[in-house]
Amino acid sequence: MSSQFTLDQIQLQLDRYPPEQKTRSLQAWDAADELLIRYAQQQLSNDQTPLLLVNDLFGTLACALHAWQPVQWTDSYLSQLATQHNLQQNGLSAVSQIASTEACPAFAAVLLKLPGNHSFLRYQLRQIKQQLPDGASIVAAAKAKDIHANLLQIFAEEIGPVSASLTEKKCRLITAVCDKNQAVPKKPEFPLVWPVELPLQDQTLTLDIVNHANVFAREQLDIGARFFLQHLPIVQPEQRVIDLGCGNGVIGLALLAAEPQAQILFCDESYMAVQSSRENVSRLFPTASHCEFLVDDSMSQQPDLSADYILCNPPFHQQQAVTDHIAWQMFADARRVLKIGGRLRIVCNRHLGYGEKLTRLFGGCIHVASNAKFSVFEAIRRK
Ligand SMILES: C[S@@+](CC[C@H](N)C(=O)[O-])C[C@H]1O[C@@H](n2cnc3c(N)ncnc32)[C@H](O)[C@@H]1O
Repeated sequence: MSSQFTLDQIQLQLDRYPPEQKTRSLQAWDAADELLIRYAQQQLSNDQTPLLLVNDLFGTLACALHAWQPVQWTDSYLSQLATQHNLQQNGLSAVSQIASTEACPAFAAVLLKLPGNHSFLRYQLRQIKQQLPDGASIVAAAKAKDIHANLLQIFAEEIGPVSASLTEKKCRLITAVCDKNQAVPKKPEFPLVWPVELPLQDQTLTLDIVNHANVFAREQLDIGARFFLQHLPIVQPEQRVIDLGCGNGVIGLALLAAEPQAQILFCDESYMAVQSSRENVSRLFPTASHCEFLVDDSMSQQPDLSADYILCNPPFHQQQAVTDHIAWQMFADARRVLKIGGRLRIVCNRHLGYGEKLTRLFGGCIHVASNAKFSVFEAIRRK
């Protein structure tokens, strides 16, 4: 797949992230990016800076619209890394990057790529509206198949009168004009809070957990996680444990429920996931101030031989593309980060064959449990 992006006079070299991933079958931009770039070139004046770019997955918009001094607002650390990589390889200076857990930054114009979930879209639109003057527009782009009455209604409820362009290359632009007189919808409120049941040795503990708008399984417990919770190890206070791809932190929370002194690092590439985990630990286990929270690409910032246990419900998609490369990266990182004798325990869909992958990587793998859909495996670092 080409990484050479050409549109009108613009020529760029654009990669997905990580750039060295084996499956380079997907390019770093789509027709929705092209529509937004053309819109900016034709409709925005040169002095409409800074330009706010929302959900710019790999930095295509930041590179192509660099003259508008872009500010990126995203929930994804990988998107930030991809943007830095693509700006650098095209000889462009760094742009301002703001995490979705921070307030929406000030802007003169705003372009938005549709995020994967409508809850997060609502959250973003609600924040953007606070910065949008009455009568100003937000312009979004998406695949035509994703633009239906429900979606347009979200824009109408959160911003104001909405219209959609004709389809071009299977994509459309959505324009919503800010109506400051229109009340902000009361529901849904962010973040979502719901009870989760954590199985302990001889009882069940029910805790209310916080889920920010872009967290995985933000409305209910993932069924893989539910099975994993029944097969977690008992960890000791002196052990260093990593909840890898922590989401709302439910796996690490279950470990803390059994051992409140456990030293757990919660890490994820989503800012909202790490923020949810941080809030959940501080609300539910106020004495667990020894826990750490980190936004990272897998465990890239973790030293070799530094963890006793790594627990993971691995992601099967990365920035809207279904892939198993991230699970592979996590397992390979786990082998590096675990101490000798340290253990990686995972839950996965039975059909994915992750047990064989772990056996190849670690030289062996223990089958802990299975049900009709999921398996739990554990691999030990022997050398
Ligand atoms: C299947 S979810 C598991 C979430 C939570 N542990 C649970 O069991 O409900 C996988 C998590 O991995 C995170 N993730 C995806 N790619 C990642 C990466 N490169 N580095 C770190 N975390 C990543 C996702 O944001 C998501 O929260």
